[in-house]
Amino acid sequence: MRRAGAFILGTGRALPSRVLTNQDLERMVETSDEWITQRTGIKERRVVAEGESNSGLATAAARKALSKAGVSPEELDLIIVATLTPDYLMPSVAILVQEALGARRAGAFDLSATCSGFLYGLSVADKFVREDPSRKILVIGSEVLSNKTNWEDRTTCVLFGDGAGAAVVTGSPDGRRGVLSAHLRADGSLWHLLTLKGCGSLYPPGDPRLPREDYFIRMQGREVFKQAVRAMESVAFEALEANGLSPSDLTLLIPHQANIRIIEFLRERLELPAEKVFVNIHKYGNTSAASIPIALDEALEEGRLKEGDLVLMVSFGGGFTWAAVLLRW
Ligand code: ACO
Repeated sequence: MRRAGAFILGTGRALPSRVLTNQDLERMVETSDEWITQRTGIKERRVVAEGESNSGLATAAARKALSKAGVSPEELDLIIVATLTPDYLMPSVAILVQEALGARRAGAFDLSATCSGFLYGLSVADKFVREDPSRKILVIGSEVLSNKTNWEDRTTCVLFGDGAGAAVVTGSPDGRRGVLSAHLRADGSLWHLLTLKGCGSLYPPGDPRLPREDYFIRMQGREVFKQAVRAMESVAFEALEANGLSPSDLTLLIPHQANIRIIEFLRERLELPAEKVFVNIHKYGNTSAASIPIALDEALEEGRLKEGDLVLMVSFGGGFTWAAVLLRW
């Protein structure tokens, strides 16, 4: 068994108060609760209201995680925020969180790896605490996708939601509990299947070369689906095999919440019973980098993990990026 690295001291989540149901969407585009439920498993999602922001959600999730961890902001060495929807291009969300928390000793940066961002961030934190186990690092996944959603495009607008999840990590207390291994993967050859083009330096706002639709998330859903199921299955087995484990050793699988059919496919391939797979997609939709830390926080709150349990987190997102982190709780 590998020596464990990053140990999670506490988690937290923050969701916007505004709920957008499938019935609300029926009034906005040509869709139905039945279609959305059958094809995705989503019943409702949260969207920011006036005054709510990515950094605000990230800070609220962070405060809860710090409180549960019993760690003060001044003790933090590093803040990593995984996001594809920052408040600004400069400064980063991580800087805004650092300022809001008063985490004066902490370095801070954003990490861009779409829906895999939290697991990429946890993997970076894992490396830092393996070097010095006394370090305390805040890893956050936070998104406001509703502002990057084309509310006239029924093929995407039913899928996404806003939210944030956070974890405070430090070095393993005993080399046994914590992150056993992290597996990061990417394939840029298919980047064009899932894009948000009109926000970077290539196309300034209002650039006539870019169609209006490209200022929002665009996705070829069926193709993304095919890639997602293949990639998530392969990286899940990679993580288990690297640790000499099999799916039956798992207590809980926490997959990225993009589509219930993708989650079901993964569950079947790993031959896991339904109670070993965490699902909350019906409440929040796809919150990209926030999906796994929100799910982890809810799983803990529901008492789904106890000391020594094995949990596998698996993600897939635009890029494509995908990842798995195996952790002994
Ligand atoms: N309501 C009603 N009908 C719809 C809707 C809707 N909201 N959206 C699409 N349809 C129609 C289509 O127009 C199509 O009609 P047609 O047959 O007349 O052309 C039909 O439904 C089927 O469309 P498909 O796109 O083939 O539907 P599919 O079963 O593939 O489901 C979905 C679409 C839900 C998007 C699915 O492909 C999916 O989940 N893909 C993966 C998404 C994902 O994993 N993303 C992860 C990364 S996200 C990130 O990184 C930010």
